Amino acid sequence: MTEIGIEVNARAVKAWVEPRTHLADFLRDHLNLTGTHLGCEHGVCGACTLLIDGMPARSCITFAAACDGAHVTTIEGLDDDEIATELRSAFTREHALQCGYCTPGMLISARDLVLRLDAANERDIRLGLAGNLCRCTGYVGIVRAVRSVIEDRRKRGIRPVLSAGREQLGPVGSGNGARGSRAQVSSRPANVEAPERASSAAAIPDFVADKIFEQHVTIAAPPAEVFAMFGDIKQIAACLPGASLTAEPTPEHVEGLIEVRLGPISAGFRGSARIGRDASTMSGRIVGTGNDQRSRSSTQGEIRYHLVPIEQGAATRVELSIGYSLQGMLAQIAREGLVRDLASRLTAEFARNLERRLSGTAESQRTRPASPVDGGALLFDVLRGRVRAILRGLLRR
Ligand code: FES
Ligand code: FES
Repeated sequence: MTEIGIEVNARAVKAWVEPRTHLADFLRDHLNLTGTHLGCEHGVCGACTLLIDGMPARSCITFAAACDGAHVTTIEGLDDDEIATELRSAFTREHALQCGYCTPGMLISARDLVLRLDAANERDIRLGLAGNLCRCTGYVGIVRAVRSVIEDRRKRGIRPVLSAGREQLGPVGSGNGARGSRAQVSSRPANVEAPERASSAAAIPDFVADKIFEQHVTIAAPPAEVFAMFGDIKQIAACLPGASLTAEPTPEHVEGLIEVRLGPISAGFRGSARIGRDASTMSGRIVGTGNDQRSRSSTQGEIRYHLVPIEQGAATRVELSIGYSLQGMLAQIAREGLVRDLASRLTAEFARNLERRLSGTAESQRTRPASPVDGGALLFDVLRGRVRAILRGLLRR
């Protein structure tokens, strides 16, 4: 038996498995996730398709033991996923299922197409779904459903994600696939410009953050004004040190770049985020993912905010909960305390910029590119602050 630790639908799971147990059996028999269906058990029919580290994979030919450390998403984990929700409605509307046996795998493959295809044409959709067999429908309704979702999303300004944010090749689930050359020739529609390593908001699953911390800042403006400003993505990006947008944002989706310098290391995290807001509770949530190619680091992050009126409603306390996971070279040097201190200084600078904009004293549009966050300078400030605190403590004795 082999012990594995995997994340299934954003839940950490540890288990002992036989080396021969395949992932589909493990999910169905041990975790009762029976939405993953088994048809041929030979990697042919696609009924067992799920996502491993965000990539569609056949779970009947993937050993559970090979998935140690992987993030697995089954159809059950896509209950609240934006694209899967749109696809489910479209499948119902277009009569894209009868017995439903192929449907979980079909939805997962279709979701991948909705994510990646620039335009909806029947040939590409049929080609993309060629690995998922359906005995009932004759495929016409399925193709129509997928096509309608792609068309609708592109009309709403939601762009495709090249390679669906994929960076790794090799056996999915191993987490050790070769990066690089093959990834760069992955299926990119000819009419799409140079690859950008953004991950679409819709591609971003919920995740379990390695580190979570709380912060707050005070802004000298009423909560309603601050909340309205939080809904203006361009203004918010302009207030965030080192941040710039790489595509036209929508209210629920943003793509951008955050540049950070830490001593000799400079990193540019390119990625995207999905945005949720609730006016009734003056709160919101941003879940994002990004990659820095130079340092081969990647991050997932979540910011939850809640606005609380203070000073008889004249000012706002912004309560933040920040969760993140960092992988790659930067993870080696980004100690938790350092990240927390940097985040605290960034949020303070963000709050200052926001106040300037709210009071009309800042330029309304950014006219020059955002300068990178100088983590080195911030780090120096942090260290200076700590040394001062230590000296104060010593002098008091
Ligand atoms: S059951 Fe996995 S491809 Fe058929
Ligand atoms: S709906 Fe029955 S196999 Fe596809």
